This record gives sequence, C-alpha cells and structure tokens, in this order.
Amino acid sequence: MDPGSSISQTAKYLCRAGYGILASDESTATMNKRLAKTGLDGSLETRRAYRELFYCADIGKYISGAILFKEMLVQKDSTSQPFTTCLVAQGVLPGIKADEGLEAIASGAKSKEETHTKGLDSLKEACQEYRRQGARFAKWRAALKISADTPSELAISMNAAELGKYARICQDCGLVPIVEPEILIDGEHGMRESSEAAERVLVACFQALREQAADLGGMLLKPQMIIPGSEFTGPKPSSRAIAEETLRVMRKCVPPEVPGIMFLSGGQTEVEATANLDAINRLASEQGGAPWALTFSYGRALQSSVLDIWSKDRSKVAEAQQMAAALAAANGAASVGQWDG
Ligand code: 13P
Repeated sequence: MDPGSSISQTAKYLCRAGYGILASDESTATMNKRLAKTGLDGSLETRRAYRELFYCADIGKYISGAILFKEMLVQKDSTSQPFTTCLVAQGVLPGIKADEGLEAIASGAKSKEETHTKGLDSLKEACQEYRRQGARFAKWRAALKISADTPSELAISMNAAELGKYARICQDCGLVPIVEPEILIDGEHGMRESSEAAERVLVACFQALREQAADLGGMLLKPQMIIPGSEFTGPKPSSRAIAEETLRVMRKCVPPEVPGIMFLSGGQTEVEATANLDAINRLASEQGGAPWALTFSYGRALQSSVLDIWSKDRSKVAEAQQMAAALAAANGAASVGQWDG
C-alpha cells in the first residue's frame, strides 16, 4: 500500500489491517533506566545499537510505523544508513515524539501530583524540522492519574486543550498526530473507575480537537485499554470483560471519522497486551465491526523480551531480532482477531 501524501492517507496507512506501530520513543532518561535495569550502560552507542537491532529486524510485515525519539531521527545504522532509510525501505513510516515530557501542574489543591505536557511553545518550528527530516507522524503523550480525587477537572481540561492544539499544529505541518491521553495503570482502582475516567478524558479531548478544527480523519487516537489498576485487589477480569468495557467506552466517546485506535500497552505483560487486543477485535467483529481500526502502538509489549535476550548477550542480535519479529507478528494477528495464543 502507498502511504500517500495527505495526512488522511498516511493515517489510514498506519492503521491498515494487520499492522500496528512500534513505540520506540523512550526519552534518553527512560531508555537509560530500562538499559540500567538489565545491566547495560546508558551510552549513546548502546542506545543506537539497541535501536538498530529493532529497525533492521524483519518487522515490516506487521509494523506500519515506528515512533522515534529526537536523537534517533538523525542516527545511522552500522552501515552509515540513516535509521529513517532502513525503516522506509521496509515500508515502516518514521514518527517522532513531539512532546517535551511531563511537568507538575502548579496550582490547585487536588492537582499536586497531576501533570500536563511540555512542548507547545516551540512545537510549530520543531514539527516543520521533523517533517524535513523524514517524519510522517508525531506523538504527544499526556498522563492522567486515577485516585480518590483525580483526574481533576483541571488536569483533564488542561491536557485536552494541549492535545487539541498539538494535533492542529501537526496537521498544519503535514504530520499525522497521534493523540495520547494515557490514563496510568498505577493505583488500586477497578474497571468502573477506569471506564469513568476514560469517558471524561476522551470526551474532553474530542471537544478540544473540534475546537481547534483538527481533521479527525487525519489523526490517530492512542488510549489505554479499560483495565483495573496495577494495585487492584479484586478478581482479575477476563480478556473478554476487558474487551467489552473497552469497546463500550470507545463506541461512546470516539467519533467514527477517526481511522484508528492504537492502544498502548501501559504496563500490561506482553501476553496480556496481545490477548486483550485479540479479544477486542474478536468482539468487534461479533458486533458487526467497528468504525475504526483497533490495533496497537506498543512500547514495552513489543520490546521487553527482546531487550531481555540482547542484554544477557549482546552477540545474540539475530535471536533478539527473531523475538522482535515474533512479537510484532503476534500483535499483527491480534489486531485482526486472529491470534492463536
Ligand atoms: P507502552 O506500550 O510501553 O505503554 O508504551 C507506549 C507509549 O508510547 C507510551 O507513551
């Protein structure tokens, strides 16, 4: 398929049947933390070699786009080819993390631990430059927390407004915006609190996107699935129950013009993320289909086992690459409800 030149063609390319996105845009600090946990040093060269392993693996049959952190947009593989060239050669479009990370919201009693996302001030110039460097899409992550008194109205409205503005700027610069209002897995909440928070957040985001006259057909949504918090002590819901609640909330809140919902893995294990995506797609087809593609934009769920192999023995590049391709294939199958477990 040709990715086309318009943002709506590119958005459709990114979420076409059987494909999803590799989120490999961990900031330098986050990447270094993940490397350190496995005993690897956080040097520029280690980060580059780890990325090369992925971008030169055989992932193009299931991965339509890879989100990069700034430094990788200009990095090269060991044959001096830019990463963007290796990716495009496999049909994988390069994307860019366009936000500048999280910052505490300064005022309001309930907002002490809540955040908004930095980066709007310089976003237009940055997006123009990213587009020149070969990026075709971008990502902006807002993070919201569930607790007794959060997410607050202030955090919801501030983050939604920023996502709306970001989306419009990206589209004006020729980049497809991935709009990511992530509700974090941390906490004791159950499914009901997770659904309620997601509905409030998604309604506010689409209102902000409409206020900015963003083109809903030229964007992708990246939400979390509706799952209980990581500290939830009640019974674990089945993949079917997660699929039912996730689809109910998405049908209620996400306009049909949006071409794709690209779930993040958000702290689920690799198997949970794949099983739940598969269940969502099986249920959607039992219900007669959904207006949008339901696929993945996973970070940890596509990377954890790969890093595990490589960190134990850096000469095992081929084995780590096979794992990267296998995880991509499993999620590609789950994105059309054909994962065989
Ligand atoms: P995870 O799939 O590891 O949650 O990462 C996705 C992502 O891009 C978070 O911003």
